[in-house]
Amino acid sequence: MTNTDRGQWRSRMGFILAAAGGAVGLGNIWKFPYVAGMNGGSAFLLVYLVLILFLGLPVLIAEVMLGKATQRNPVGAFKALDHEKSPWRMIGFMGVLAAFMILSFYSVVAGWCIEFIIQGAKGAYSSSSSPEDVQKLFAALTSSPSKQILYHGIFISMTIAIVYAGVQSGLQRVCEVLMPLLIVILIALIVFAMKQEGWQKGVRFLLEPDASKLTPNTILAAMGQCFFSLSLGMGAMLTYGSYLRKEDNVVSSSAWVAVMDTGIALLAGFVIFPIVFTFGVEPAAGPGLVFVSLPGAFQQLPAGTIAGIGFFVLLLAAAVTSAISLLEVIAAYFVDEFKMDRRKVSIGFGFLCFLIGIGCAVSGNFFDILDKTSSNYLLPIGALLISMFAGWVLKREIAQSDFKDTKFAKLFGLWLSSVRFIAPVLVVLVFLNKLGVFK
Ligand code: PFF
Repeated sequence: MTNTDRGQWRSRMGFILAAAGGAVGLGNIWKFPYVAGMNGGSAFLLVYLVLILFLGLPVLIAEVMLGKATQRNPVGAFKALDHEKSPWRMIGFMGVLAAFMILSFYSVVAGWCIEFIIQGAKGAYSSSSSPEDVQKLFAALTSSPSKQILYHGIFISMTIAIVYAGVQSGLQRVCEVLMPLLIVILIALIVFAMKQEGWQKGVRFLLEPDASKLTPNTILAAMGQCFFSLSLGMGAMLTYGSYLRKEDNVVSSSAWVAVMDTGIALLAGFVIFPIVFTFGVEPAAGPGLVFVSLPGAFQQLPAGTIAGIGFFVLLLAAAVTSAISLLEVIAAYFVDEFKMDRRKVSIGFGFLCFLIGIGCAVSGNFFDILDKTSSNYLLPIGALLISMFAGWVLKREIAQSDFKDTKFAKLFGLWLSSVRFIAPVLVVLVFLNKLGVFK
């Protein structure tokens, strides 16, 4: 297959927005605040930012580089760079497994957004409703498996329909519009949050250093979140990189994606925590945090209904662009490696994710197991192996070509030491710390 058959991004900006669209999703707006809230706020944030810089960014560059160099799927890329039976193709298999697990619970949460859009249309964000009303709505939703399964089914069908049609260019266009809109609505919400009595408390919660909150679990959660949010460790970014044009710069494109992804998570944090403290919501409330805190803010806005519905529509859209990249990892693997029909694969495996997701709608424990196993173990192990491959196996000329003759030439040594030593050592240390080795 030639490059033109596979399709390519129209421009470097097209790649950045599409990759950022894949990275930015529920992870930034739903998961980041609640995981930060459950893991000590500022302690979590500090570790998170350090990990994005020393672990996330180098691995992101490595994934995009491997994709661009081979123009293949995550299993094919390792075969092309090593050999047909290369053990490194395990990374691709693990990525497919992680994609199944993540998509199954991701779709259930995205389904919650549908309920919050419908409730908004019924007046949940008007001044006649109270924050307690919405908290009750959320509790009712999560204790109703049938409702959650219905919305989960709707969401997964939307995802399947887009991957089925293979609308690469449509996807790019959607991301170009949605990302800026999402940023605008978050900034508007920050302006609102700044005027609330909980603003200072919220900001302090995120920024005031408190070493006593730094536990092995906080560090593990921050690492899991770093990979989950940047969609790393499972070949999704490798696949996006495989559509880059030869002249596009891997390093600056990756840096932009990391900056946008982290920036949006921070914006969400600075919106949510002040609101949490203003309305007396518990910061460690868990997965419902965004859903039970923000409606209280919408109810006080003059155009609250429109703002609230708009917010959940955008969150749903951000979730769709990420879910597509998850299903795409599965589809690309089965289409390329087993010559299966793309349409059958999207429907068949999308349906399998629907079935697994039913377990998440019924049991919070099952939800937690899928979430934690994928984010805290599969993605970090995938990222560890990818960085070792890029650092120790990939031909140096290939890696260097993405730095040479660019303004990043001087950073090659730093990147190489990161993927060879810093990133693998960090992942191993976090695991050992979690196992209690340093106590
Ligand atoms: N990065 C996405 C988010 O933050 O919502 C989730 C995700 C998408 C993870 C795609 C992994 C992936 F391959």
